Amino acid sequence: MKTFADKIAIVTGAASGIGLGLSTELSRRGARVIMADVNRDLVEEKARELSGSGGRTESAFLDVSDAKAVQDLVDSVAKNHGRIDYMFNNAGISITGDVKDMALADWRRVFDVNLWGVVHGIQAVYPLMIRQGHGHIVNTGSSSGLAPWPSVVPYTATKQAVVGLSTALRSEAETYGVKVSVVCPGFINTSIFSSMKYVNIDREKALKELPFWGMDPAKCARIILRGVEKNKAIIVVGWDAWLMWHNYRLFPAAYIWANRYIVKKVREQGVGR
Ligand code: NAI
Repeated sequence: MKTFADKIAIVTGAASGIGLGLSTELSRRGARVIMADVNRDLVEEKARELSGSGGRTESAFLDVSDAKAVQDLVDSVAKNHGRIDYMFNNAGISITGDVKDMALADWRRVFDVNLWGVVHGIQAVYPLMIRQGHGHIVNTGSSSGLAPWPSVVPYTATKQAVVGLSTALRSEAETYGVKVSVVCPGFINTSIFSSMKYVNIDREKALKELPFWGMDPAKCARIILRGVEKNKAIIVVGWDAWLMWHNYRLFPAAYIWANRYIVKKVREQGVGR
């Protein structure tokens, strides 16, 4: 509980879902939380709500795909508070459909937010944390970063990259006293599914067929913070994520073979079918 008291934490994608859960839990535990999100109105509202219930939160408009904006935010937080203890590079988006129906712009948008957004966060905060001699970078990957998901191929590509860069950077960073963790949740009940783009897929049908076991984002945030306290390299959240990860590691060929059923199921949600 004390780990986060009086700590300075930036959370990206903080207006909703896992980022909001993290901001709520961090502020409950006494951290000063800078809640950053591209949804200006919503992040202001959520930060006000948390401040109103005793938290020390600030809101910031931020598009993580804009490297300069991320650097500016990190610089201003460091100037105002003297240091940054935690950087949660959490903002993310997805897109569902067959790659054959996607445009290059679809890939780019997902890469810009999910991969470059994380890289921008690291590039901005890592030199400062090295100077400080401490700090913890926590990147949100996904269970699709540990085992491939068809029908969200660009998303899977970014999340595998986030897992790779985080686990590789961890060994470099620890020599400077900086910690790096990657979070890999399974299915969490958030608005990512309603806000994502569906390409030639019937959105309503897809939303109706979401798995029933989605975890509450508040519980997800508590599991993440437990992993951060333990400085875990990979923080796996949810039994579904564990199952996917272990099945893929033990039986990769069978796992990939079984993925054809996901492809079939998602294609059944095709527009007009
Ligand atoms: P969400 O849609 O509830 O929240 C994402 C937040 O990110 C939103 O507030 C959105 O405005 C913000 N955002 C989007 N683009 C942004 C940008 N360019 N700059 C700044 N903020 C931006 O989604 P959720 O589920 O909370 O997602 C958070 C992270 O968790 C993402 O990285 C996602 O890929 C990851 N994740 C989610 C899972 C789930 O089942 N919900 C499973 C595995 C990973």
